[in-house]
Amino acid sequence: MIVYRSSKRQLLSVGAFLSILVIYYGGKSILTTIQRNKYRPDSLAIHLILNKYFHKPAFGLPLNLTNPYKYDYSEYGQSIYVDEIFDGKENGTYIECGAGDGETYSNSLFFEIRRKWTGVLIEAGRKNYDLLKMKKRKAILINAALGNKTELVKFIEAGFTGGIDKNMEKSHKKWIFQNFPYNLTNSKQLIQSFRFIDIIEAVGMKVVDYLILDVEGSEITILETIPLSLYVINIIQVEFLVKMDVEKTSRKLDKIKDIILSTNLYIYFDIIKNTDALFIRKDIFYDFEKRSTKPL
Ligand SMILES: *[C@@H]1O[C@H](CO)[C@@H](O)[C@H](O)[C@H]1NC(C)=O
Ligand SMILES: *[C@@H]1O[C@H](CO)[C@@H](O)[C@H](O)[C@H]1NC(C)=O
Ligand SMILES: *[C@@H]1O[C@H](CO)[C@@H](O)[C@H](O)[C@H]1NC(C)=O
Ligand SMILES: *[C@@H]1O[C@H](CO)[C@@H](O)[C@H](O)[C@H]1NC(C)=O
Repeated sequence: MIVYRSSKRQLLSVGAFLSILVIYYGGKSILTTIQRNKYRPDSLAIHLILNKYFHKPAFGLPLNLTNPYKYDYSEYGQSIYVDEIFDGKENGTYIECGAGDGETYSNSLFFEIRRKWTGVLIEAGRKNYDLLKMKKRKAILINAALGNKTELVKFIEAGFTGGIDKNMEKSHKKWIFQNFPYNLTNSKQLIQSFRFIDIIEAVGMKVVDYLILDVEGSEITILETIPLSLYVINIIQVEFLVKMDVEKTSRKLDKIKDIILSTNLYIYFDIIKNTDALFIRKDIFYDFEKRSTKPL
């Protein structure tokens, strides 16, 4: 009874405080408050991530790879390229979203093996995640999709080309139909999706050297909800290719550039194989530029 009354009084005083704010600032302050909520960590989501969708790094266990002697596991040499920009930096950190099985086409595995980096591997597909757990990566594993909301989403599992159903372009789905032995109906699953901000808060990461987004359609939705100025993310690699649709591919790249460059923190650096765009934080870029123009 007492608790109820005091919480009601608190509510009343919060309400009074808010109306004073509205009177004082007009509608504008409320709008900024709503916009800011997009970037506010959600403790329930964080709890869910840590208690249900999380596996610890396999420290102390040997990697269990199919090809243990490969140097670069990335699809088009992305790892080596990024390693050059970082000048062989050791002990860095990564977040790879769309981690697959953690070996095939992995952008981060090179850094784990050769540069002693650690990080977070996010993979939504159940088959991929089962394989990923067996690799004994020295990374936190999270079995979820990245999105702009904590929600259950329909996920189409299709090897390295799977993604959230509602964010996937028609041409990409068509491509999956043509290239995968199973059909879209039987491979659709309900998967938990989280926002980037809740994942990074859950794992307590302060600096991300290398963020990889390879999520087959959800890239823009995700980027729109990452507060790029609140975290230090040094290199962002985003897949922009929309399979079998040249026009949508170019529009998507433009949109990705708009979002990242509007922060004023990044340089649009390069595209790799007409698939991945690389953005580099300005300070990292200037260091790299100084090194590469230094006379021998
Ligand atoms: C990386 O971490 C290891 C182990 O903590 C340490 O011995 C090494 O000096 C570090 N390397 C750099 C370049 O900081
Ligand atoms: C290593 O991976 C293989 C599949 O590639 C699996 O059969 C085996 O159980 C894994 N070993 C461990 C210790 O997880
Ligand atoms: C897809 O697979 C499901 C389950 O096996 C089956 O019922 C359905 O007829 C298949 N659809 C097509 C278009 O082949
Ligand atoms: C999430 O993304 C979808 C599609 O891109 C959009 O319609 C929706 O408004 C977004 N929601 C939030 C909370 O940003």
